[in-house]
Amino acid sequence: MKSPSPSLASLNAGARDRSPEGTAMLAGSTGKHIARAGLGRPGARPEHQTERATLAVDVKALSKSYAGRKVVAEVDLQIATGRIVGFLGPNGSGKTTSLRMLCGLLTPDAGEGRVLGLDFRRQAAEVKRRVGYMTQKFGLYEDLSIRENLDFVARLFSMPDRRAAVDGALERLGLATRQKQLAGTLSGGWKQRLALAACLLHQPMLLLLDEPTAGVDPKARREFWDQIHQLAREGITVLVSTHYMDEAERCDELVYIAYGHVLARGTAAAIVREAGARDLEDAFVRLVDQATDNFAAT
Ligand SMILES: Nc1ncnc2c1ncn2[C@@H]1O[C@H](COP(=O)(O)OP(=O)(O)OP(=O)(O)O)[C@@H](O)[C@H]1O
Ligand SMILES: [Mg+2]
Repeated sequence: MKSPSPSLASLNAGARDRSPEGTAMLAGSTGKHIARAGLGRPGARPEHQTERATLAVDVKALSKSYAGRKVVAEVDLQIATGRIVGFLGPNGSGKTTSLRMLCGLLTPDAGEGRVLGLDFRRQAAEVKRRVGYMTQKFGLYEDLSIRENLDFVARLFSMPDRRAAVDGALERLGLATRQKQLAGTLSGGWKQRLALAACLLHQPMLLLLDEPTAGVDPKARREFWDQIHQLAREGITVLVSTHYMDEAERCDELVYIAYGHVLARGTAAAIVREAGARDLEDAFVRLVDQATDNFAAT
């Protein structure tokens, strides 16, 4: 039986930018800026709900090398509780590696900080229990049904009332009618729903979603994003990697990485403006071209 990826578990989090469009940091300005967002996302929570906001992710100088090559290079990430942050960058830029370090599955070479108020290096086991991680590749058992997969995950987390938790997840993600279907026979959109249900089961407060909509049709992608916005309204923080620009536009703020270096962060509007670009895609093409000159040989 194909083994599932450990998709595990989170909690707290800083002040928000209250300007209409927010600010962006582009590489070349200050490398130590905190990611800040405006209120561009429809349904953004009113200010009174943000006053006691804290940082769900507050990590500095995160680094990882493979065979002497730095694939994540001194990455700083600060994400306020309840925000949806898009993690963008070309193939091989270090997104998955960063996400895996944040949720305690991969040991960083360097970097300090807190995830949900916990020391993400020294309390990695506790971080795993509190963060929901959706892997880039479908990681559940193909030869178990939807319900069996969810029940298995509930056992992994030693959840006290597994049946109620699984019923709730089936209901929430619209999976109840297909609960007996084998995961291996599901289409891409349904597999993605199951994967999201599995990583929500233990009620994490931080979701790390790695290209959750890759290969999923537009209607399923829209439904998925509606779910993400609903979860954020409930106070859950989301860091989501994607290659889709329409999805990037639906995030509160963006972090753009290439060659393991953060090149830009801020609202979509601010990044476009500060890059002097036509749109986000144009901004990122310009940023990657600059980064190739700066980092490709390192
Ligand atoms: N276990 C590993 N051993 C060696 N190199 C690795 C390992 N994991 C990742 N890498 C390398 O680190 C770099 C960053 O990989 P990573 O998977 O983090 O990129 P990514 O931004 O998620 O890319 P994609 O958009 O294609 O998913 C790549 O060059 C990759 O080949
Ligand atoms: Mg990846």
